Amino acid sequence: MYILGISCYYHDAAAVLLKDGVLEAAAEEERFTRVKHDYGFPKNAIQFCLKHAGIRGQDVDYVVFFEKPFRKLDRILMTTLQTYPQSWKVFRESMITWMVDKLWVATTVQSELGVKKEQVLFSEHHLSHAASAYLCSPYEEAAIMTVDGVGEWVTGTYGVGKGNEIKLQKQMEFPHSLGLLYSAFTAFLGFEVNEGEYKVMGMAPYGEPKYVEKVWKVVRVNGDGSFSLDMDYFSFHHSTEKTYNRKFEELFGEARAPKMLFFTEGTGFPKYFGTAPGNYQELAAKNQYYADIAASIQKVTEEILVGMAKQVRRATGQKRLCMAGGVALNSVANTRILQESGFEELFVQPAAGDGGGALGAALWAYNTLLGKPRAFCMEHAYWGRANSEGEVGDFLRENQIPHRSFSGEEELLDEVVRQLMSGKVVGWSQGRFEWGPRALGNRSILADARNPEMKDIVNAKIKFREPYRPFAPSVLAQCAEKYFELPNAMRHNPARYMLYVVPVRKKEQGTLPAITHVDGTGRLQTVFAEQSPRYYRLIEKFGQATGVPVVLNTSFNLKGEPIVNTPSNAFNTFSKSEMDALVLENFIVEKQ
Ligand SMILES: [Fe+2]
Repeated sequence: MYILGISCYYHDAAAVLLKDGVLEAAAEEERFTRVKHDYGFPKNAIQFCLKHAGIRGQDVDYVVFFEKPFRKLDRILMTTLQTYPQSWKVFRESMITWMVDKLWVATTVQSELGVKKEQVLFSEHHLSHAASAYLCSPYEEAAIMTVDGVGEWVTGTYGVGKGNEIKLQKQMEFPHSLGLLYSAFTAFLGFEVNEGEYKVMGMAPYGEPKYVEKVWKVVRVNGDGSFSLDMDYFSFHHSTEKTYNRKFEELFGEARAPKMLFFTEGTGFPKYFGTAPGNYQELAAKNQYYADIAASIQKVTEEILVGMAKQVRRATGQKRLCMAGGVALNSVANTRILQESGFEELFVQPAAGDGGGALGAALWAYNTLLGKPRAFCMEHAYWGRANSEGEVGDFLRENQIPHRSFSGEEELLDEVVRQLMSGKVVGWSQGRFEWGPRALGNRSILADARNPEMKDIVNAKIKFREPYRPFAPSVLAQCAEKYFELPNAMRHNPARYMLYVVPVRKKEQGTLPAITHVDGTGRLQTVFAEQSPRYYRLIEKFGQATGVPVVLNTSFNLKGEPIVNTPSNAFNTFSKSEMDALVLENFIVEKQ
């Protein structure tokens, strides 16, 4: 039985395909269209899934959409009516997308895939999130917590999964949303909402949480772990352009300009920014204030999440927690939940955001709705499209790109290790691309984590990013505890997907300067031989040669672009940057 899950028309569009309840393929649409966070109908991702399984649209038994369009329409109508006339613009704009896309999703699915009306099912947004974690977890029973911006009405839920059933017991509703609170600060700090949340998390360690009292003015927690926003400070319920209002600005001051370069007295002025401006000190002080704000909202977010998780632990009595929703991508908060909430273990799958809703919708339909036993546990993120050896070879020859090809893996890996050791920055594309926002060694840029200059080199040459974006370490799973403070590291599923941020052991911080963040932490990826054989062997060889089985891993893309998919995407990124070498399957291309 084939089930296709779809999420679109909101944040990240994605499609996944299950065969008899087992995941065959999963991909976000942005990888194909090259439009970051593409939320349109995931035509390409669907085509890829079908092609991967060797079937046609008509062969699919059910297509499941990740939320209920009419219920969401209801929320938009209600909130816009309540806040009319400020909301007329949001109303008009929503109506345009609603009438054109969302209400016709069933019709679009039928015509695109050639399926009948009764084969199109609808899950609910937070049920899809819940299912996307619990139903592919290894647990027979577990607590579930979902937290995001907003679905139809709901902004957070908790409940219990047992066997193939999910029972959500409690929910929080719009406008009281932790995701939207964090997004308001993301916008205030000069970043794009739904994109810059990582930057806020990365910026926080440069500051001190000096303004938590102020943040607690706009949000307060209730006795049962839930919370309420003071809507006098926000405008996301009646504006498409601004998430916070003048009262918010009176409390927190002027917003950070979007193009303002980030540096503090602590970071100094990065060389790759050019020459320091005349008003360096004034700007550094300003940035310090914004870093303190970032630290404060991050701290409050963590406090709220830990409080919610403690409540979920009390209310459910479960020992394990499955988490999903965009907020579950806050890897700093995840670590605190693990350490402080009383849960022994957490499970988060790599696409915890709305893209992952496609997976949850499909699993919910198969396991819960159709009552079939659970058949799938997510152990890795490699569910996207692969570039075949032939495809890469043809691409390089047709475009007359000078290259070397390696017949044996040993020689290839030895060569890459040599390059990394000599300070080269290597684009690395192998196998199927990753599911979710992180590159986990199949579409990654790799470098030597031991090199103290490497942060600046990669930032300047490749990513053109600012210093607050830390680079992540990939470490052989069984060696993780030597370098990172994460007891039983191999047991922790979120560490496979860079979803925990933990301290780098004090004595190893000097060994790994390129991946140690300003506060001494690292967002590690544990690499397993079984799930990532080639990447594992590469790090293993690097470890044999240097004594340190850790490499710097950052996503294979340029600033503002989606992670690469095809040989052509990878080659373009390689050409546009100052990356030294490009490894595509068994081929190596070098800068002339
Ligand atoms: Fe969501």
